[in-house]
Amino acid sequence: MISPQSIQEVLSRADIIDIVGQFVRLKKRGASYIANCPFHNEKTPSFNVSAAKGIYKCFGCGKGGNVVTFIQEHEKLSYPESIRWLADYYKITLEESERTPEQQVQQLAEEGLRILNEYAAQYFHENLLQTEEGQNIGLSYFKQRGFRKDIIERFRLGYNSESGDSFYKAAIAKGQNAAMLDRAGLVKSRNDRFYDVYRGRVIFPIQSMTGRILGFGARILKSNEKAPKYINTPENELYVKSRVLYGMYQSRQAIGKLDECFLVEGYTDVISLHQGGVENVVSSSGTSLTEDQLRLIAQLTKNLTILYDGDAAGIKAALRGLDMALGQSFNVQLVLLPEGEDPDSYIQKSGAAQFHEYVKGHKKDVIGFRLEVGLKDAGDDPVKKSKLVNEIAESISRINKAEDFALQSHYIREASRKLDVGENGMVTLINKYIRDRIDKENKHYGKEKELPAPIPEYQQEQEQTVAQATKDEEQEWQLIRILVEYGDKPFEGYIDAADFVYQTIDPDVIENDQARNIYKHYFDLAPIRPAASYFTNHQDTATQQRVVTLLQTNNEISPKWKLNYGIESQHGEMNYINDVESTIAYFELKKIILLQEQVATLLMKELDPLKQAVIQKQYFELRQLEKEIVKKHGTVVFKLLKK
Ligand code: UTP
Ligand code: MN
Repeated sequence: MISPQSIQEVLSRADIIDIVGQFVRLKKRGASYIANCPFHNEKTPSFNVSAAKGIYKCFGCGKGGNVVTFIQEHEKLSYPESIRWLADYYKITLEESERTPEQQVQQLAEEGLRILNEYAAQYFHENLLQTEEGQNIGLSYFKQRGFRKDIIERFRLGYNSESGDSFYKAAIAKGQNAAMLDRAGLVKSRNDRFYDVYRGRVIFPIQSMTGRILGFGARILKSNEKAPKYINTPENELYVKSRVLYGMYQSRQAIGKLDECFLVEGYTDVISLHQGGVENVVSSSGTSLTEDQLRLIAQLTKNLTILYDGDAAGIKAALRGLDMALGQSFNVQLVLLPEGEDPDSYIQKSGAAQFHEYVKGHKKDVIGFRLEVGLKDAGDDPVKKSKLVNEIAESISRINKAEDFALQSHYIREASRKLDVGENGMVTLINKYIRDRIDKENKHYGKEKELPAPIPEYQQEQEQTVAQATKDEEQEWQLIRILVEYGDKPFEGYIDAADFVYQTIDPDVIENDQARNIYKHYFDLAPIRPAASYFTNHQDTATQQRVVTLLQTNNEISPKWKLNYGIESQHGEMNYINDVESTIAYFELKKIILLQEQVATLLMKELDPLKQAVIQKQYFELRQLEKEIVKKHGTVVFKLLKK
């Protein structure tokens, strides 16, 4: 069984447009995408995919569902198999049922914290509304800030007494456990006595997308104290700050419906906007946006509007996380509020209508925003200006998903005009950044899956033979073979041959699970290099048998490969160095050729000539890499022959 967290992770990562787009040609139509239905024959498209809702529906044959049912239906897989398919696609390691003791502890802790937090939220909320102190201090504070009763209830706001340990006592009386209370950040012990952490503070429960209470933010009421303004729940098994957005639970429906998410800085901003009728808003709670938070939003919409203060700190905060959002294909807009205002103060003062008008009139896209801020800052300084050109090109280079090319070319035009550089120069610069990233990724591999996988019907004749040779996992098994056979042998420049392999190949690029596990297992035993017999006698029979077969078969490189690259691979004890090097070279070649196929597919789909040029460059870069590997390997063979 796959653990619920893993399933959750897969579901939150899986992007329906991305996945469905692997199998059908999607066209954007308004807020959704349409295509010819893959489940029945048709000439006019009636197959609809909604990114915001994460679902598809065919109005012709009636088939519909979410990303998992799509894989089930299309690939004819069971539910768990589909989850595995998706996990594989997104390179997520699934947690399987056989839980380690640590995993069991984690799950128990999570469950305990969840129950405790629910209790605490209820306690603080009742305390706010029903006790005299709560009403006099907490509730009157909220009223003075203009928060309505229905909003206080919707966000389950609370208050805890100044007394010192009244919450602690109440919780213990209800059978809660002191260690757990401490873990939840609700109490602290000092001199063998427990105290409430939130004393005389109003409390904002932080909820998950499904309404679970993950933690709290507790705001001080007296401003002249040294104590921090907010005390937030410390990171624990349940509360992981980087994966939480305040207001997600209350806002999720509006975000989906309006296909837009506002991002603000504070708890009170979310609350005031809700009160003013703007319900599609979340807060990253004073920290910069993370990848995980963006993924949460991406489940609901790809339109993100960041609302920050117009001061320098606000601008800085807004700029962080932008590239990340671009990389995740968000359509990001920025709105800076008039100086001295935050969304809370602004909407309370001006009302919803004016708020919307302001937002509409002040939305700027990321590049436009960067340009504006940067140009103002650079003035006539040529050094600063050239730095700005580079920054903008870097930003634009991050827009690299196939469906974003129109957007990218829009930015290229816009930026070259405002920066007064030619479009061609801009494209060259952008290419440089794309290339740098591809180079980096090639070094570590692994990342290549971010490019869409090739569409089978497109492959050029000449490439077909090579591609076929790369499809099987033979190269991966060859990697295991050289480890098992020659791992402990000397290798120039490295501790030994295994070290060379380890430095060169990241385990995560090995796609076959069994091969990857053996690879990792081999290095888990370091510094010991297990002999072949270790594996051929391994207690895990699958491993044992696989390695036995591996060592028994004639490990000839496919004749097609010889034909294509003209490299002879020499086996046997004497030629182990050549064997190791050629195996690694073939492994690298395989990965590069797969990348080439993907880029070629992108190229075929691209209509804009400007973008075509960009992709073409990438393609030739990969070709070049391929040649280099072949050349390098050729040299190795030559060296050996000379000896
Ligand atoms: P703000 O200081 O803008 O708080 O910090 P706010 O929520 O707008 O509160 P009011 O309107 O002054 O009452 C923005 C966010 O930064 C985090 C909180 O999430 C807050 O909502 N923050 C701020 C902290 O976590 N700790 C702090 O000490 C201050
Ligand atoms: Mn505020």
